[in-house]
Amino acid sequence: MLKNWWQEVVVYQIYPRSFKDSNGDGVGDLRGIIEELDYLEKLGIGAIWLSPVYQSPNDDNGYDISDYEAIMTEFGTMEDMDELLAQANQRNIKIVMDLVVNHTSDEHKWFIEAKKGKDNSYRDYYVWADPSIDGRLPNNLPSTFSGPAWEFDEDSGQYYLHLFSKKQPDLNWENPEVRQAVYDMMNFWIDKGIGGFRMDVIDLVGKIPMEGITGNGPELHKYLQEMNQATFGKYDLLTVGETWGATPEIAKLYSNPERHELSMVFQFEHIGLDQQEGKEKWDLKPIDIAELKVALSKWQTELGNEGWNSLFWNNHDVPRIVSRWGNDGKYRIESAKLLAILLHMMKGTPYIYQGEEIGMTNTAISDISEANDIETINMYKERVEKGYSKEEIIASINVKGRDNARRPMAWNGSQNGGFTSGTPWLSLNENYKEINVDQALADPNSVFYTYQKLVQLRKDKPIMVWGDFELVGTADQIFSYYRFYEGEKWLIVTNFSNQEQVFSSDDDMLEVIIENMPTDFSSLKEVTLKPWQAFVVRTN
Ligand code: GLC
Ligand code: CA
Repeated sequence: MLKNWWQEVVVYQIYPRSFKDSNGDGVGDLRGIIEELDYLEKLGIGAIWLSPVYQSPNDDNGYDISDYEAIMTEFGTMEDMDELLAQANQRNIKIVMDLVVNHTSDEHKWFIEAKKGKDNSYRDYYVWADPSIDGRLPNNLPSTFSGPAWEFDEDSGQYYLHLFSKKQPDLNWENPEVRQAVYDMMNFWIDKGIGGFRMDVIDLVGKIPMEGITGNGPELHKYLQEMNQATFGKYDLLTVGETWGATPEIAKLYSNPERHELSMVFQFEHIGLDQQEGKEKWDLKPIDIAELKVALSKWQTELGNEGWNSLFWNNHDVPRIVSRWGNDGKYRIESAKLLAILLHMMKGTPYIYQGEEIGMTNTAISDISEANDIETINMYKERVEKGYSKEEIIASINVKGRDNARRPMAWNGSQNGGFTSGTPWLSLNENYKEINVDQALADPNSVFYTYQKLVQLRKDKPIMVWGDFELVGTADQIFSYYRFYEGEKWLIVTNFSNQEQVFSSDDDMLEVIIENMPTDFSSLKEVTLKPWQAFVVRTN
């Protein structure tokens, strides 16, 4: 496989609303990001994935776009965007834009036109259906944000499809005009010098709603090949698809370079491990390290040279990793570092979600009035109606709700963590007084410096990028694997527990590459791991 820049970098995801507010209105913005580029340069990242910054009525915080070629007023102006691009490029940081084209906002001009009537030239940009014979919904497709995926339009007597909120009508990708309009818009951004696209729920664009098909539709890959040709294929860009329904076989269809589709996809197998099979994400089940090992190592080995992995623990939709697979109490720092080492040592392109690099945690709420996220609020209403107790719903929200990741970034110990001088749009976790960027930068043992070291090691050591992966058989609570590259061999060892564990190696553990606490080797082949201990060693 040819070597590409996007395999060698670490990507940092910014959720602009919550990153940094420069003007005191309580909402993060583009100038806030520009102010913190030096911080990101210090971390060493090579690209930023910017969650949507386009004009939007914010029904789903920017994932409902009303104008793809304008900046959300709260976030700034197109001049600010151009300056962000220029300033980031000066620091060798590329900007990867969020491409949300499964749907638009209902306030997009295409939809405003389409609603005008069946013969409007934009009507077919969206998915419309007549009521079923008995006058009811066209079929029983559900919306991800609760309730049916169909909304009735009184004026025309038809329903339109919305796989997400009512204010996010689905685009009709079967219409070639829609696809062309999307490609033109992508080229507008490519001409500005962006570094690529993260493609929102891209596996839904091949849907055939009347057959009940949403993910992985039959024309999906044809569309992506067409998109590649019409837009980014001529350039050297990072493209990553958000694909909840991907298996390793499917991931190869997207990311095998010979197929000319995407650089890589986000797979979600490890994200679903705390969910009961066949149920909703809110139906929790206890996590099991053994399952995490199976899921992650399967993806490490099965793509081979026919695809490329993305590596992530966090994004704006999933809870904070240290609260999920780590111990966010007594061992917060140790476990946050362990999780960083475990992930960054795997094969693929690592992504860091804002705040992960300082070990930010989930934020528990006690009442639904403290929630902001549309998914959470709709689910709450639905489950109250179904008779669930408020306590059990809130308990699920505290484990899985999207606001956990969306609480503003804590920059220092001053009021509102230095995120804003005004009133934040969503309150911060109260632990910002202890967990914040200033604190992390001042403490040489902070989580931040482990991330910084991992990012630097990746630049210095090709084995981290290109080495092959092999899982080591161990006790359940230990997650260990090898990387191999051109005669070099590294061993990664992590203890996912609050107890000591003994680890014995088949190889001599010769030289520590990185560790999250001083490692006490009893011999070349044995070590007693302290709770949440992690290290990487060169072996023979
Ligand atoms: C993706 C986004 C999520 C959004 C949804 C609809 O899953 O990551 O935040 O709500 O798509 O656009
Ligand atoms: Ca602002």
